[in-house]
Amino acid sequence: MEVPQRLLMGPGPSNAHPRILAAQSLPLLGHMHPPFLKIMDEISDGLRYLFQTDSKYTLMVSGTGHAGMEAAIANLLEPGEKIIVGVNGIWGERVADLSERYQGQVITMNAQPGKTFSSAELKAAVAQHKPAILFLVQGESSTGTHQALGDGLGEACKAAGTLLVVDTVASLGGVPLFADKWGIDCIYSGSQKCLSGPPGAAPFFMSERAMDKLRSRKTKPATYNLDMNLIGDYWGWFGSRSYHHTGPVSTFYAMREALQIVADEGLDKMWARHLAAHQQLWEGLHSLGLQSYVENDADRLITVNTIKVPEGVDWAKVVKNAMDKYNLEIAGGLGPSAGKVWRIGLMGYNATPTNVALVIEAFRDGLKQQGKL
Ligand code: GLV
Repeated sequence: MEVPQRLLMGPGPSNAHPRILAAQSLPLLGHMHPPFLKIMDEISDGLRYLFQTDSKYTLMVSGTGHAGMEAAIANLLEPGEKIIVGVNGIWGERVADLSERYQGQVITMNAQPGKTFSSAELKAAVAQHKPAILFLVQGESSTGTHQALGDGLGEACKAAGTLLVVDTVASLGGVPLFADKWGIDCIYSGSQKCLSGPPGAAPFFMSERAMDKLRSRKTKPATYNLDMNLIGDYWGWFGSRSYHHTGPVSTFYAMREALQIVADEGLDKMWARHLAAHQQLWEGLHSLGLQSYVENDADRLITVNTIKVPEGVDWAKVVKNAMDKYNLEIAGGLGPSAGKVWRIGLMGYNATPTNVALVIEAFRDGLKQQGKL
């Protein structure tokens, strides 16, 4: 197998931390052996810190961020129930699709790509429709927006009997998130972005209210693989342990180490490091005459940055040059931003001044080659 060394500064996966790669090569344990169950408990604890929650209901879904997404919808939405889905990029679109597949009554709220939803419009929609779920994406990696989630949104959802469900795949660990303080009921994420792990694990959280909903369902979730009653029972949520699936042992080690690295650095420092990388990036890009696709500063996601492709520039040539000359991945747009932007991920292990400087250099070189500097 040939695996070249590359610096992955697109929207993910980001480069894995060497400690995490090393953890993955530890000897396998049985998926029900006591030392392994202890590692699972430590993952649940680490996730409580990462999500900023005291909830008992945290675990790592054995699957990608999409598995986390499907677990959230499949468990918390019953056929015929309403879900409001905030759509301002491809992740909301996918959740709307997924919710239809689970026979929900989908109400989409749309914002222009590059924009987010105001808390006033979200609260008004929740009060009007009283849906079972309000779904939002904190970090929309296809457009580079950051959705604000505080400002009483959780309380408004609670008052309407609505569960607040949030996608944090591209944002968790890179920007502040407070599950309990903000009254969020369910969150899923991915391992391969700010957590610096390999893809294939989805941090997952449910509040007590979300668990009440799951307990009081009239029908079983239409998925065995992602049924949180069953997976939760493997993770010890209900006091005992029973076999649901064979946990991907090495991936659990990777998540355990990823969460140790988060705890060693501390969330405040981690958030500050991501912010500093973002500021350094934009200082450099502005000096090259490049502009953000997201106009409003407050809407910008710091972990996945979208850069407008200037008139007359071939974006793909800049991407190719970065790879050929610097072994550096930068990405083009996705969904509504395809062909309009480059996307730069500043996530986890990769969010360092040296890496950011290389990205700026690759842009300088790429633009120069096209006679734009
Ligand atoms: C994947 O998460 C992407 O935004 O491309």
